[in-house]
Amino acid sequence: MLEVKNLCVRYNAGDSAPALSDVSFSLAKGERIALTGNNGAGKSTLLSALVGILLPEQGSVIFDGLELRSGGGSLRDTVDAFRRRIGFVMQNPDDQLFTPTVYDDIAFGLRSQDAPEEEVGKKVDGVMNALGIAALKDRLTHRLSGGEKRLATLAGVLVMEPDLLLLDEPATFLDPPGRERLIAILAGLDQSMIIATHDLGMAECLCNRILRLDRGRIV
Ligand SMILES: Nc1ncnc2c1ncn2[C@@H]1O[C@H](COP(=O)(O)OP(=O)(O)OP(=O)(O)O)[C@@H](O)[C@H]1O
Ligand SMILES: [Mg+2]
Repeated sequence: MLEVKNLCVRYNAGDSAPALSDVSFSLAKGERIALTGNNGAGKSTLLSALVGILLPEQGSVIFDGLELRSGGGSLRDTVDAFRRRIGFVMQNPDDQLFTPTVYDDIAFGLRSQDAPEEEVGKKVDGVMNALGIAALKDRLTHRLSGGEKRLATLAGVLVMEPDLLLLDEPATFLDPPGRERLIAILAGLDQSMIIATHDLGMAECLCNRILRLDRGRIV
């Protein structure tokens, strides 16, 4: 489903070392990979590169036959196609929440696909109930607690039912019951996932393979 070939990503032209060097791996449909490594190892950089937020300096990312590479043909169309099918929960929820209320934020993606409002309501309510955040429906996103923000961003991505889920530290900010509920929800999904995490217990529960990064390289 996903193939990463010799991926090299550099934030600034003048940087002495790239943030990712020669990263290659593949992910089969339904597979769940945990991405581990110390702070600054390149986990978030890799997830961002898989959805075209960062572009490869060298190498490429291929998702179901579609190739994302710098200087490639219609890059905009490729990035759009990737984002329609790949859901990304960013490490910092503040980078992801942008509409005033929780409900509207979770509904945003479905509405932008012109889904009928009745269907939007059903799906948004369903995912909020599953994550235990139904009571937050009308709250202002910027006034939520850290864990509440995390759950709202997860809901906004899960509601889209993407084929591949990229989760960057999904359990941070969550209390123990929230973490358990999240693990149970993720375990019940059949989508492919890459989960960047320091939480090895969660990785063990959910993933069949671990990729470890060290200073931008897979070790
Ligand atoms: N916007 C940026 N501009 C320049 N360098 C960056 C930027 N974001 C990250 N970096 C650098 O790239 C490297 C990889 O960072 P990244 O955020 O991918 O690490 P990480 O493995 O996700 O770490 P953490 O466990 O702390 O989340 C680090 O050296 C970091 O300082
Ligand atoms: Mg990170």
